[in-house]
Amino acid sequence: MSRTRPLWAVIPAAGAGERFGGDVPKQYLPLLGRTVLEWAIRPFQARADVAGIIVAISAADDHWPGICLSSDRIQAVQGGPQRAHSVLAGLNALSGKADARDWVLVHDAARPCLTDEDLDRLVDAAAESCGGLLAAPVQDTLKAADNGAVARTVDREGLWRALTPQMFRMEELASALQRAETAGFLATDEAAAMERMGHRPRIVPGRADNIKITRPEDLALAEFIISQSGIA
Ligand code: CTP
Ligand code: MG
Repeated sequence: MSRTRPLWAVIPAAGAGERFGGDVPKQYLPLLGRTVLEWAIRPFQARADVAGIIVAISAADDHWPGICLSSDRIQAVQGGPQRAHSVLAGLNALSGKADARDWVLVHDAARPCLTDEDLDRLVDAAAESCGGLLAAPVQDTLKAADNGAVARTVDREGLWRALTPQMFRMEELASALQRAETAGFLATDEAAAMERMGHRPRIVPGRADNIKITRPEDLALAEFIISQSGIA
């Protein structure tokens, strides 16, 4: 186990939730007595080995002060126009506190259903590699489409849906995201930026119900998942 130093968490929470719609950004909607964001932070707060949690919020955010996260481990920073910018802002805030080789867990504010067990397995497996991510195998048959008609069926063998958290060493991740940005490459997850640098992040099979709240119907689904899974 190559992990003796503390862990850090970066939670990108600066999105506007355009696909979800509504007046309140989805990460601040109520879900079983807490906000979606508080559920997303919960598994990291629950771990004694997580030394700090950086939450990247939008400059226009007026909901953050209203949520009650009684912990001096949590700090908010201003995010950016794309998710990758928000993650980089979080990593920059860590650079004074964390060691370059410390492991950082990046987790979407919009994923409230992460279990402690999945987080445990990710931490253990990713630390044995250059880092890694939770992922779920693709279950549906995939179609490539052209003008609204099927062009071909894509073999789903070996295809995974990338989830979060994703865990990488702080300096390597910051540099990979920075280089991607400079090159105009839009990394939609941390692994994509690392892959671009020649790394091969470990795929850690995770629960398919670690969903990202994207559209309104996902909120009721998250409520069901949390209430059924015994997440406290
Ligand atoms: N995110 C962020 N900064 C951005 C954009 C997104 O921190 N500039 C965060 C979101 O708050 C969310 C996570 O990245 O927790 C995943 O993004 P997504 O689900 O796409 O959320 P939104 O961008 O808010 O939604 P949409 O794309 O529908 O606008
Ligand atoms: Mg988005």
